[in-house]
Amino acid sequence: MKTTIANVAKSEGKIVTIGAWLANKRSSGKIAFLQLRDGTGFMQAVVAKNDVSEETFQLAKNMTQESSMYITGTIVEDKRSPIGYEMHVTEIELIQEAVDYPITPKEHGTEFLMDHRHLWLRSKRQHAIMKIRNEIIRATYQYFHDNGYVKVDPPILTGASAEGTTELFHTKYFDEEAYLSQSGQLYLEAAAMALGKVFSFGPTFRAEKSKTRRHLIEFWMIEPEMAFVDHEESLQIQEEYVSFVVQSVLKNCKIELNTLERDTSKLESIQAPFPRISYDDAIELLKEKGFTDIEWGEDFGAPHETAIAESFDKPVFITNYPAEIKAFYMKPVPGREEVVLCADLIAPEGYGEIIGGSQRIDDLELMQKQYEAHELTGDAYAWYLELRKYGSVPHSGFGLGLERTVAWIAGIDHVRETIPFPRLLNRLYP
Ligand code: 4AD
Ligand code: MG
Repeated sequence: MKTTIANVAKSEGKIVTIGAWLANKRSSGKIAFLQLRDGTGFMQAVVAKNDVSEETFQLAKNMTQESSMYITGTIVEDKRSPIGYEMHVTEIELIQEAVDYPITPKEHGTEFLMDHRHLWLRSKRQHAIMKIRNEIIRATYQYFHDNGYVKVDPPILTGASAEGTTELFHTKYFDEEAYLSQSGQLYLEAAAMALGKVFSFGPTFRAEKSKTRRHLIEFWMIEPEMAFVDHEESLQIQEEYVSFVVQSVLKNCKIELNTLERDTSKLESIQAPFPRISYDDAIELLKEKGFTDIEWGEDFGAPHETAIAESFDKPVFITNYPAEIKAFYMKPVPGREEVVLCADLIAPEGYGEIIGGSQRIDDLELMQKQYEAHELTGDAYAWYLELRKYGSVPHSGFGLGLERTVAWIAGIDHVRETIPFPRLLNRLYP
């Protein structure tokens, strides 16, 4: 009977066949220990000289890393194994012998590994990160579907920028100029007016010349948008959603978190509500913490975010930033027009901003004024303005960066390991 490593528990005591690759190997005299991987997980297979034909034993002993095979044997309980079982092999059918696999168990430099990303993905560590990424996506769909949201797919080729014009990828669209989407938000606002509560999950592009641990050129964003929801209600949705995602990973990715040696005690406490601090108070806090030069009106960099996050053991919302440093569509705080109804959610442990969100301007005249102030001319946005003309309502939304969220939950230093094929400042290969 054919099975997979993820399912071996159901086959205890039985003889099964698994399609697998050789991840690693150890052998001595009369026994060989094969570390198998099959995509669903990792498992040890024990080949004892006395249990198999001489041919099979020689095959096992000489098998090279990443060779592929069908391997048959009995599944037995093994308390030391992370999955609780191992295989006692009776037969091996080699599919292909891999010669000189470039990634060996020794240490390799990051650039080398990035050049071999198509193979590096097979490693135990990368496998664990991709499984956690997958669980975050699964939990996201579950959360929004369970809460009555409709998934909507905004276009990727767009005629107008959503988040400022300096970080746009330009491309030709026949005779017109087009851009790769920086955010689906504007289209999601239109969709929210049609469907009430919507969310998207898709790739977004920023032509940012940043070379930090937190920046990708192409990254995936989850963007919910809700009609009749104000800023405070949106914050409650954000904290509930993020808590749900973290608890889902804790529940469903135990083996992977263990592989990555993630300190899970820091994740267990991630439960709504999350603390909030206003931009005004954050400036004061930073001054107390020794950032004596910072002045009201300046944007926060990574060191500022990390310093603020250190004061809290959960993600923290920094609310009501100066309008000057935020996007054109954010609604001013009533009675205090120089700040806007927005929040960035800063992850703990120095992982930085994972969400940017706001209540949107719903007044047509104010929106028109903002357009002029931001020099957004032409009719590319005519449709967006019309949303404020026909039954405008209070509405809010936010964008969660998937890769930064994976980095935080999985405890990964650099976002380049949190996406299958990262697009970085100097990397388009593989
Ligand atoms: O704060 P941002 O730019 O917000 C927006 O795009 C809004 N339109 C979202 C909305 O309200 N619908 O981006 C949102 C999140 C950030 O908090 C961050 O997690 C992630 O996207 N992000 C990046 N992740 C990786 N690399 C980059 N270059 C990123 N830029 C933003
Ligand atoms: Mg932001």
